[in-house]
Amino acid sequence: MENSAGALIIDTMSKRILLGVTGGIAAYKSPDIVRRLIERGAEVQVVMTAGAREFVQPLTFQAVSGREVRSDLWDETAERAMSHIELARWADLVLVAPATADFLAHLTHGMADNLLSTICLATSAPIAVAPAMNRLMWSNPATQANIATLRVRGVQVFGPDSGSQACGETGEGRMMEPADIAASAFAVLPAEGPLQGRKVLITAGPTRERIDPVRFISNRSSGKMGYAVAQAARDRGAEVILVSGPVNLQAPPGVRRVSVESAAQMLDAVMSEIAGTDIFIGTAAVADYRPSSPADCKIKKVSDKLDLCMERTVDILATVSQRADRPFTVGFAAETNDMEQHALSKLTRKNLDLIAANEVGDAKVFEADDNALTLFWPNGGKLSLGAGAKTELAVKLVDFIAARFNERAARPKIAVVR
Ligand code: CTP
Repeated sequence: MENSAGALIIDTMSKRILLGVTGGIAAYKSPDIVRRLIERGAEVQVVMTAGAREFVQPLTFQAVSGREVRSDLWDETAERAMSHIELARWADLVLVAPATADFLAHLTHGMADNLLSTICLATSAPIAVAPAMNRLMWSNPATQANIATLRVRGVQVFGPDSGSQACGETGEGRMMEPADIAASAFAVLPAEGPLQGRKVLITAGPTRERIDPVRFISNRSSGKMGYAVAQAARDRGAEVILVSGPVNLQAPPGVRRVSVESAAQMLDAVMSEIAGTDIFIGTAAVADYRPSSPADCKIKKVSDKLDLCMERTVDILATVSQRADRPFTVGFAAETNDMEQHALSKLTRKNLDLIAANEVGDAKVFEADDNALTLFWPNGGKLSLGAGAKTELAVKLVDFIAARFNERAARPKIAVVR
């Protein structure tokens, strides 16, 4: 899978998602759902109901999806290109977001009087709905009975969330946030892709090293990059275990999270999950030092100076890569200067198969949603993934890892005769 320039050709397994948009005010958030699905590697075909067109212009969806929007069951020209039956067959998932109370009633009763509900009847793909409506419409027994019926039939229901509503009221009925809808949609899709059947173990976030019962030393890692990598690996079919330091993020759907605080706990968690791991990705900003003797009681300010004696923590990444049954091992390097030189030194020193390096300049990268990554691997390999959203970069990174891992797994093993 290498081209003449020695660069790996990345295999992307795109999922086909048909996004139905129905006529609720939350439709203004649906272009963002399209963007987030595409970021995660999906192809998206938008189908709008007449009501949805009252809220958002089809042109907006065409611009973000790169595909002509469909809305009419009786459009001969569009039907010639791809009929409603072909659309129903094309989809790996039909996702309706927002799904109004009226649409849910249509779906429950098997109506086929518009393009979207006809597709829902004609598809054998899984169907997911993200309801959005006024809290009283949501709690109405008719809507609740419809939802219960749909659930029994296997329709996935995402949300709704609680909070302030467009109508000025507060309660349950708000559409789930676009990023969460996109993540849930991928969790519904069958886990298949280049990492199917593979176990991927990922560390993420910061660690906290105790000074006394109320204080700790930590760093600015938000965990966003590691969580995005976990999601991307899950989307490519892997069984994913995410060993995470304290962060403010939800575990991605379909990913098993093991929560830890300190570097020592992270090491223990990794070691108890390492058996059978095919790929290990260390994205965590693990503390390199910890207070040697954390105090049992709160330290009081009795003097002008306080000296903290620190000791080295164990390098988790290097420990994993030294194992006889070492998985394909990937590290991260966050550098403020001489990025390439430091990344290459870590690649060799820690015996890695790949290292993803980024500049952390004034440490803005840690909390940001964007990043820029350059990959290095043994024997002079180098590839810039460019700058972009962490979610997008995570997909590119995981595709690259999958390609290299699968290429190595396919290589015939050479027996060494002594
Ligand atoms: N790492 C780890 N365990 C540690 C320290 C680091 O697993 N105790 C991993 C990180 O998850 C990352 C990689 O090692 O994948 C690089 O981490 P970094 O702290 O930047 O590298 P160091 O080798 O500690 O070098 P330095 O701090 O001097 O830059």
